[in-house]
Amino acid sequence: MISDFSQTLLRWFAENGRALPWRQTTDPYAIWLSEIILQQTRVEQGREYWERFMHRFPSVDLLAAASEDEVLRLWQGLGYYSRARNLHAAARQVASLGCFPQTLDGLRSLPGVGDYTAAAVASIAFGLPEAVVDGNVYRVLARHFGIDTPINSTQGVRDFRLLAQELLPQDQPSAYNQAIMDFGAIQCTPQSPRCLICPLAESCAALREGKVADLPVKLQKTKVQTRRLAYIYIRYKSEVAIRRRPAGDIWQGLWEPVNLDTLSPEQRTALLADALLVAHDVRHLLTHRRLLADFYLLEAARRPALPEEYRWVHESALDEYGKPRLVELLLQRLP
Ligand code: ADE
Repeated sequence: MISDFSQTLLRWFAENGRALPWRQTTDPYAIWLSEIILQQTRVEQGREYWERFMHRFPSVDLLAAASEDEVLRLWQGLGYYSRARNLHAAARQVASLGCFPQTLDGLRSLPGVGDYTAAAVASIAFGLPEAVVDGNVYRVLARHFGIDTPINSTQGVRDFRLLAQELLPQDQPSAYNQAIMDFGAIQCTPQSPRCLICPLAESCAALREGKVADLPVKLQKTKVQTRRLAYIYIRYKSEVAIRRRPAGDIWQGLWEPVNLDTLSPEQRTALLADALLVAHDVRHLLTHRRLLADFYLLEAARRPALPEEYRWVHESALDEYGKPRLVELLLQRLP
């Protein structure tokens, strides 16, 4: 038995669902790639990157055969680079398995694939009856059923997962999962939802009780911390010193100019003495941190000694190195 709620969503989707390129296929690779990209990226931006990846790597084997550097470079601008590293590692696992895992647990064993992505790929690529629960689903369910349990509490996570699974039409998991996500993205939006033209308005508890703006409830997390960064762009005869960021911190594997944190106090003082301050307190937001960056330029007359993790590369080759978005923005400020 399909509930009225689910029936209405499916009907709404048939008329209003977005025409997205990964909806034209059941290729698990194409669908998995779209879901990894969309984990933290809006559909409009994600679409361009999906096309770029599908063009460069039409199959999971071709992605697996690429270098991590190339994958990071193609990912540049999307942020959350652990997604790109996991994407590459997962592609290698799938390539060595010979095909995509076709069960929820098998999918979840791939790097970067959690509950949400496993359910999305299982339902959309393989037609398995697994309900997805993402931010859209939390919002639509919390409002329509008037649930004020915090969505990031243990109880909330359990309750919403059970409800989502209960509402899933067993024979149409792909359409239904995509319907509720599109409905959340287009109709039941976080701000200014379009309740006046909502096909579920009559049965919506939040609308009836005047609680649309208050749902879903989310527990307040600790305040975001500010972190300071400072870079010196050291140019010596059209070469520039860069290093690859190490494991255990943000931007692992991406490249950056000389980072003051990597220098001794004496080195820092000596290099800054002749450097020009190009940009001060440039703000940049990550999920859990606010960054404030200073950026210096040093036109060096001699090649300065640097920690050995640095290498000198020709400036014209800088594009070939995947860099954090913040570094890209700083480089644009060079005089
Ligand atoms: N967001 C992430 N994946 C999605 C999908 N398959 N459909 C709609 N919105 C999404």
